[in-house]
Amino acid sequence: MSDLPAETRPASSPGPLRAVERVEEFSDDDLHALCEATHAAIIEGGGFGWVAPPGHRALESYFRGVLLVPERALFLARLNGVVVGAAQLVRPPRNNEAQAFAASLMHSFVAPYARGHGMARLLTVEVEEAARALGYQVLNLDVRETQAAALRLYESLGFVRWGVHPAYARVDGRTVRGFYYYKLLQTQPARERGEAAA
Ligand SMILES: CC(C)(COP(=O)(O)OP(=O)(O)OC[C@H]1O[C@@H](n2cnc3c(N)ncnc32)[C@H](O)[C@@H]1OP(=O)(O)O)[C@@H](O)C(=O)NCCC(=O)NCCS
Repeated sequence: MSDLPAETRPASSPGPLRAVERVEEFSDDDLHALCEATHAAIIEGGGFGWVAPPGHRALESYFRGVLLVPERALFLARLNGVVVGAAQLVRPPRNNEAQAFAASLMHSFVAPYARGHGMARLLTVEVEEAARALGYQVLNLDVRETQAAALRLYESLGFVRWGVHPAYARVDGRTVRGFYYYKLLQTQPARERGEAAA
């Protein structure tokens, strides 16, 4: 498979300038804004692992670490040039030959102060396009049942819910279910989909 694309195109719709790009190194400003956005999103209700904000130093270490993991690609969402969200495209481990055709979308979020501008939709579409360009046939993701906006977003983009994990996460002493989704990325010939030829 080829390398991940270095950059994705900016959105051309009117309104605030929206862009999504894959990053391989941070400027100080971008890392600071990313940690700020993450902190704000965790306080507002999280949805990508953390329940309580771990502090800026831990977040900086975390994101610097993400860039070092070969299987992970970090995508940043920018609103008027400022980083306001992120998502990760995670490739399967190299020893997993049987699932080498499937990647995962993980840890996606947009800061509360940048929501409602279509940033998450753009982020998801760009990660999906990157996965497709790399030849992956399936994109998997999972979400807490409480993340109503995310559930609506993914379902509107054609992700199919295939399962429910009854004990997916613990948040504020409560067990929360998790919903599991997949999306087929490549158009397959009718014969491979099991459909009769016309
Ligand atoms: C989910 C999240 C990423 C959406 O970010 P956003 O940039 O505001 O979303 P967008 O503006 O791109 O909206 C895309 C779609 O999401 C859904 N959506 C967004 N906000 C919503 C809300 N408040 N209620 C219901 N659906 C909502 C809608 O389907 C919307 O499409 P529409 O505008 O055509 O109706 C953001 O709310 C978030 O970060 N939540 C916490 C973290 C999380 O849940 N991450 C995902 C799981 S890991």
